[in-house]
Amino acid sequence: MTDLGAAFERRLLESAEQGTGIGLGATAPGDAFSRTLGAGGKRIRARLVGRFGQLTGAEPERIADLAMAVEFLHAATLVHDDLIDNAETRRGQTALHRDHGSEVALLVGDLYVARCGVHLARTGSPRAAEELWGALDTIVRGEVDQRSKRFDLRQTTDDYLATIQRKTASLLEAACASAAVLGGASEKQVEAARSYARHLGIAFQLVDDVLDYRGSAEEMGKPVGNDIREGTVTLPLILALSLSQAPIHAILASARQRDDFSAVVMAVRRSGALERCQAIAAEHSASAAAALEPFPAGTETEALAEVAESLLDRRS
Ligand code: IPE
Ligand code: IPE
Ligand code: MG
Ligand code: MG
Repeated sequence: MTDLGAAFERRLLESAEQGTGIGLGATAPGDAFSRTLGAGGKRIRARLVGRFGQLTGAEPERIADLAMAVEFLHAATLVHDDLIDNAETRRGQTALHRDHGSEVALLVGDLYVARCGVHLARTGSPRAAEELWGALDTIVRGEVDQRSKRFDLRQTTDDYLATIQRKTASLLEAACASAAVLGGASEKQVEAARSYARHLGIAFQLVDDVLDYRGSAEEMGKPVGNDIREGTVTLPLILALSLSQAPIHAILASARQRDDFSAVVMAVRRSGALERCQAIAAEHSASAAAALEPFPAGTETEALAEVAESLLDRRS
């Protein structure tokens, strides 16, 4: 449940279903359009939009449209990401493309982008539109960048942080900055919202990367150990290369030959890299809270600091 309430959830689903008038016949039962969205997810992006809206005194109706636009865009990236990553599950269910095929997954992702555009237009803010479409541009380039580096162990920590800023933090930045814009915040505050979201997004992705090596598929609602299987070199592996006594290059080469990556996962776990990665996430979480300084201190800034802190303990 989000802080925006049950009404928000209902409106989100109604909006997804509105786009389904023409249907796709036997290849796509009606639920194909609403299932990824309806399966929930943490709604962290919508929640943050709600909080920054509250903090800056934005009009609730425009904030609800912005939050819906952001969740549609996020869901679109997940549906397409699972297709590209050939993931088995998402939000505790079989990934859409596995049940309905790649064509339907492509179309549903496109539909979500379209619904994002409709809600974004309803905010009446060209600046919010520029922020969100700019973020989509950045996300796509981040994903392309990451794919061009599959199984590439030469990446540095800084390379990786730049990639996840694009892939993950950019949408959070656009969401929080746009909410502040809708509330008529000063430029300094808009940039503070963006900085908060950038650090939070980086911390969020780093915790996700740790959970991929350490978490449980049941709690996450998506596969674990999948990153390296798909060739995605994340910070835990980059750090393990310098921390581990084990010959990670050789272990990875042999894992790829046998298509069994459990030895890589074990080597990363034993190296201390997960603890180091978690510590870097904690630094970004603290920087996120510190970035809120231009806003008046109060319950909303405290709640935002709490969101940044609690994501460090998340297990799903
Ligand atoms: C998943 O995002 C993709 C990443 C950026 C790690 P979330 O973890 O926010 O996914 P949902 O919305 O809760 O399913
Ligand atoms: C998720 O990326 C998609 C975007 C952030 C655009 P990942 O592939 O790293 O995330 P999961 O692990 O599938 O959720
Ligand atoms: Mg993925
Ligand atoms: Mg991942």
